[in-house]
Amino acid sequence: MEGSHPVDLIKGESSLLSLDKVCFSWVNGTKALDKCSFSIPRPGLWMLVGSNGSGKSTLFRLISGMLQPESGHISCSLKPSLMFQNPDHQLLMPSCYSDLLLSLPRKLSLRERLERIKSVLEQVDLGDIGSRPIHTLSGGQKQRLALAGALASDADLLLLDEPTALLDPASQKVVLQILKKVCSRTSYPITALWITHRLEELEFCDGAAMMECGQIGPWLSGNLVMQRLKLLAGRRG
Ligand SMILES: Nc1ncnc2c1ncn2[C@@H]1O[C@H](COP(=O)(O)OP(=O)(O)OP(=O)(O)O)[C@@H](O)[C@H]1O
Ligand SMILES: [Mg+2]
Repeated sequence: MEGSHPVDLIKGESSLLSLDKVCFSWVNGTKALDKCSFSIPRPGLWMLVGSNGSGKSTLFRLISGMLQPESGHISCSLKPSLMFQNPDHQLLMPSCYSDLLLSLPRKLSLRERLERIKSVLEQVDLGDIGSRPIHTLSGGQKQRLALAGALASDADLLLLDEPTALLDPASQKVVLQILKKVCSRTSYPITALWITHRLEELEFCDGAAMMECGQIGPWLSGNLVMQRLKLLAGRRG
């Protein structure tokens, strides 16, 4: 069956991000990660699915360094940037241009800043929008601006926590296509880990894994994970 094979690691490939038996409990005693091990071997669009409360968002906080593991080890050679469902939670400035300026690395000269902003806006298909007040943007445009901010910041690991949950199907597709493009380009490819509950998104990924009870399964093809989840949903009636 096409697309039903596990995603193979190339022999000898070292991983960009890896977790080794990571445990984490919240102060109230809830165990969110339970000896969680997994790794991302190469740039690409990697998707994570799992039921509510299975530990996905906690995992992102651990990878980004906002939380520390109780035990186990996280190794990451990439610079992470988090993106959430609602772009209003991360766009801070009044205009697109000023928000992007805030994301830029401080070392850049004025000319480099202008070039970087122009380049990231083009990458997310918002070329002519720099001077617009943020409140005039649609939800899909705001999410693309948040993505431009992450790209402007030199991040090469995007942690996307249900980034399309609030978008309509057309905007959802645009965001997916942009991500697919930046993750598969030959120069400076991005690694993206994308949490989703929308099964149709799985067909765009390079590999998908299922998270349950604080643990992550192996990378499989998106189509295989989609079929397994549909089967499970059917059984539950
Ligand atoms: N700040 C917190 N304090 C206490 N417990 C928390 C906190 N945040 C999350 N948890 C708990 O940790 C567990 C994992 O939550 P998490 O948010 O990581 O799940 P999730 O897979 O992202 O779920 P969802 O699909 O609903 O977003 C849940 O039992 C949740 O209630
Ligand atoms: Mg979550």
